[in-house]
Amino acid sequence: MTLDLKLDAPDEANRADDLVQGVLGHENERPDGLSKAIGAATYAAEPRPDGLLHGFLVRAPGIGAVSCSNANSVREMEGVRLVLRDPRMIRNAAQGAANEAPVQGVDRAEYVGQPVALVVADSFEQARHAAQALEVEVETDDAPVDPEAVTAEKPDGRQTAQGDLDAARRDAAHVLDRTYTTSSMVSAAMEPHAATAEWDGTRLVLRGSLQMLKYNRNELADSLGIAPENVRILAPYVGGGFGSKLGISAECVAAALAAIELGRPIRVVQHRRQVFEMNTRRSETRQRIRLAADRQGRLTALEHEALVSNLPDETFAEPVLQGSHFAYAAPNRALRMHVARIHRPAAGSVRAPGEAVGVTAFEVAMDELAVATGIDPVELRLRNIPDKDPEAGIPFSSHRLKAALSEGARRFGWADRPSPPRQRREGEWWIGTGMAAAFRVNAIMEAQARILLTGDRAVVETDMTDIGTGSYAIFQQIAAELLGLPLERVKVRLGDTELPPGSGSGGSFGAASTGTAVWMAGMDLRRQIARALACDEADLTLKDGTIIRGNTRRSLAEAFDGTVLTGDGHVQPGDAQQKVRQATFGAHFAEVAVSDVTGEIRMRRMHGSFAAGRILNPRTARSQCHGGMIWGIGMALTEAVTHDRRDGHMVNRDFAEYHLPVNADVPPLDVHFIEERDPWAGPLQAKGIGELGICGAGAAILNAVHHACGARLRDFPATPDRVLAALV
Ligand code: MOS
Repeated sequence: MTLDLKLDAPDEANRADDLVQGVLGHENERPDGLSKAIGAATYAAEPRPDGLLHGFLVRAPGIGAVSCSNANSVREMEGVRLVLRDPRMIRNAAQGAANEAPVQGVDRAEYVGQPVALVVADSFEQARHAAQALEVEVETDDAPVDPEAVTAEKPDGRQTAQGDLDAARRDAAHVLDRTYTTSSMVSAAMEPHAATAEWDGTRLVLRGSLQMLKYNRNELADSLGIAPENVRILAPYVGGGFGSKLGISAECVAAALAAIELGRPIRVVQHRRQVFEMNTRRSETRQRIRLAADRQGRLTALEHEALVSNLPDETFAEPVLQGSHFAYAAPNRALRMHVARIHRPAAGSVRAPGEAVGVTAFEVAMDELAVATGIDPVELRLRNIPDKDPEAGIPFSSHRLKAALSEGARRFGWADRPSPPRQRREGEWWIGTGMAAAFRVNAIMEAQARILLTGDRAVVETDMTDIGTGSYAIFQQIAAELLGLPLERVKVRLGDTELPPGSGSGGSFGAASTGTAVWMAGMDLRRQIARALACDEADLTLKDGTIIRGNTRRSLAEAFDGTVLTGDGHVQPGDAQQKVRQATFGAHFAEVAVSDVTGEIRMRRMHGSFAAGRILNPRTARSQCHGGMIWGIGMALTEAVTHDRRDGHMVNRDFAEYHLPVNADVPPLDVHFIEERDPWAGPLQAKGIGELGICGAGAAILNAVHHACGARLRDFPATPDRVLAALV
């Protein structure tokens, strides 16, 4: 019997703090770390099944009708087995996945770089050579590629209008009206998208690099027109996803189709330029933010209007306003989305979709308001913390922004900061500090997990992925804590659709959602143990493989000698999300140096204080925050896809030209977690931490740039040319 939990009421019991093994919430190392370090962990492109053939994807060089007139002669080239131009090849059917993936065929390219063929050969080199020989002709049409050049749509359900903004602005002591822009960005996961597909005549086994296996299995089955039961996906290790692997991509379906057609295993790996073009990018944005405030800096009107883009018929629109719905109190509010239908590569989820760019722009606007009102930026935020959700009027499940701001300011040494800009100089460098608040929506998603307990050894099983986030470590800790086992006696098996469906890795919800399912499975086992001993589960003390009751001690192995106990856990969202507003909060602080000779910005240090409920493992959580803060550096200073004005193609589609921060760009990063329990998040009382660190991080940097040198950058990233132009 599965132990079910529906989240529709707060759980104040705080059982997790009563358990005695003492491993939950500790800085345990990843059990998968060693195998990754020594190369024993196998990723999607690494298996070498007998008879393996190699596929190479071919991209469209233009937008319009596509044909490949020399496909037959390419088919005759040495080693070539197949030239596949199947319309299903890139039919990415996102069935309920968080991702909305492209739905395009192979006869028309909707964007430059769209995959339109797969060439399969005996060796990778032969496949690539033949793919380059394939002539892809495009009857180019003049599809629009510039979001500013088309009339944008206003999608339903994404607009807010409350109160009277004009009146509020008229009566305000301070008003601000600013427009900010952000560029297209990419996920740029270290592991390229890859698939190895095997077909036995009935069933497909696909080793993929994917985030959300239970959805990916349905997407793949749907694309191929076979039953989901006949699709097994394995993704035990994933080298990052950041949203680009939420849904299946062309390499999965193309590899599967070729495997079915040829009856041989097929490997397809996207090369780096393909990774840039074929997977969803983060939309560029234009954001107009209008604020009105009274003399004390309290917001009376808040208006945030965003223009984003995507291909026609794609339902995803970068949810820029997501954080603005609940970040600050203001009685008069208007939030408006506009979507331009253009033919740049498809837009989709990229780490912290929405808040990553929305909070960043908004927090720069708040800094501008702080300067205009003469109120300290930390104090300005403190004065505008809402006591309930400012739109829906429902309470917050837990809300520790105030603590994050105060504690972050203290740890960073904010009090020493001179308030006017341009106060510190070292040679050619202006030095300054800035801050921003962090906001990110939180959700607990449906998830299942199972624990098999044999004596004093446990195996946790779920199809959940670990995309570098720490799933293996965290589920091991949760199971060990509930069952009273040392960590090394708990094994975790992930990334196989034969296992109970977890939440998948997305939207920061993986650890808290699937972790709660693991908790329920562990609780199911505790109840079974208690029943066998004729006691209450609450009276059961389990530690180091021993059952402790009063003065008696008995080893788990001896008590259940030879029997395998199975615990099943299941969590569902319930209506908690309607009753309370659940989100995570934080505060970023940054110190920068700006050269007034070159316009170069150098990071000197960053601090982030974050509140995300119970921190299940500070080591993996801190790593997530470090990663998020580094994304903030990229967003503020270096990362931007440049689209060609004529056909929208990505001009800088490699790591030489798309600048991700590297170690030399990253200063010491200090992360602090605010103590918090979120009772609405189930027995773990934990919220997501994965994406919080990115939200607002870039704004702290841009605000520090202003404080350093007086230059207010409103087009991000703040590249040296822009900084030089803005230097006063
Ligand atoms: Mo995330 S952008 O939901 O992987």
